[in-house]
Amino acid sequence: MDSRESILNRIKYAEKAIPQVNKDGRRQGFHLMPPVGWLNDPNGLCQNNGEYNVFFQYSPTNVNGGEKFWGWYKGESLIKWKYMGVPLAPDTEWDKNGVYSGSGLAEDGKVHLFYTGNVKHPGDYDYITDGRDSNVVYANDSDFSKKLLLTNEDYPADYTCHIRDPKVWKEDKYYMALGGRKLSDKGTLLIYESENIDKGWRFLKEVTTKEPFGYMWECPDVFKLGDVTVISVSPQGLKSEEYRYQNIYQSGYFLTDKSIFDDFTPAGFEEWDYGFDFYAPQTFEDEKGRRILIGWVGMPDSDNVNPTTEKGWQNCLTVPRVLKYKNGKVYQTPASELEALRTNERTVKPWEAFETERADIIVTNIKGDFEASIRESVLLKYEDGVFEMIMDSFGRSIRKLRLESLESVRILLDRSVVEVYINDGEYVMTTMYYTDSKKCSISCGSINVFDMNSMEVDYEKADCHR
Ligand code: FRU
Repeated sequence: MDSRESILNRIKYAEKAIPQVNKDGRRQGFHLMPPVGWLNDPNGLCQNNGEYNVFFQYSPTNVNGGEKFWGWYKGESLIKWKYMGVPLAPDTEWDKNGVYSGSGLAEDGKVHLFYTGNVKHPGDYDYITDGRDSNVVYANDSDFSKKLLLTNEDYPADYTCHIRDPKVWKEDKYYMALGGRKLSDKGTLLIYESENIDKGWRFLKEVTTKEPFGYMWECPDVFKLGDVTVISVSPQGLKSEEYRYQNIYQSGYFLTDKSIFDDFTPAGFEEWDYGFDFYAPQTFEDEKGRRILIGWVGMPDSDNVNPTTEKGWQNCLTVPRVLKYKNGKVYQTPASELEALRTNERTVKPWEAFETERADIIVTNIKGDFEASIRESVLLKYEDGVFEMIMDSFGRSIRKLRLESLESVRILLDRSVVEVYINDGEYVMTTMYYTDSKKCSISCGSINVFDMNSMEVDYEKADCHR
């Protein structure tokens, strides 16, 4: 294990490139992205004393993802952020091969954090059934000192050592969901409970489908939306179908009118996003009582290529999406704060070409077929009940979705990421894309276009390289 000092020096050295990354013409305007290097899952999401906290899996020293740290953005609002630095690094025996994903809980004026400390023992191991420790570690934002909560010994015997990504919430007690892989190669949720946030955690129950639904469930989340319980997981090992599970790994949710503590079997998985790049989302409830989801715009182990690696960075997070339960589904809408970035409103006619590189495009009154060309590199098409996102570049080809009808499309376009919200957020498709063209056109409907200003992200005051 490297000394803390040498790890911090490496981060500081890597982050000297922040001004270069900031100058890249493809950097995002209103999506959080890595200051330098690689970003994956959102972590530790919460709002504390009015301030939003977005931590993220961060490899500043390797643009293709290597050693995993937690980077940290703090938001005075959802469109005004400050990069705080790297509060958690793999510098103990509990997490020496990676400060992996986890969650946050704001309580008593503090941000409480839970994550997986990944440890790989040197030797001839497969690192699935042996050779790996998956520790649950606790820290909070008063000094980020670490405390070990759970180790392999605390997990049921019929599990591999793939158990990770603690999500903690509070009801009458504290509860924790962990994602797991059984020895029988079945993905599950493990629920733990405790009266105390930072000690005394014990196993409560396992939650899983009747038949195996993938061999591993990563990044679990459990929350109430109105009267329903939403169980969100990122399963690995589902077989691709023409209109579902088109990426190598998926992210989605089960709904139930039971509580997580009742006896029930999750069924009826619905995907969060049907685009090329979306994985490992996490949610939190903000002080306004909104349930907000943020996902990773990226896909592990895929053929997707991101040419921004040449400029020293790769991947980003989705915009914060507000969740609502409606018609038996969870609808997603970009947080309304983003509307403050709108500028230069205009109405365009069907097939009239217009130019933009960051925009909020709202198309309503769609009747029948639909087509949209986005900066000549992403084509959206709706015909015969099938909505398609078509690309022919950077490893991405086609993603499809079956729809009963198409009424509206909202295209949230940033410099190299686009989120497409279909029917007021009934479905979403997200992808990274790369082009120099600014030319767009849309075939029909009432088309309203706003350009989008960039949000404020301050990198000057990062002082948290502990
Ligand atoms: C999901 C994931 C998590 C893990 C983290 C490591 O993308 O594989 O399960 O904690 O990434 O970066």
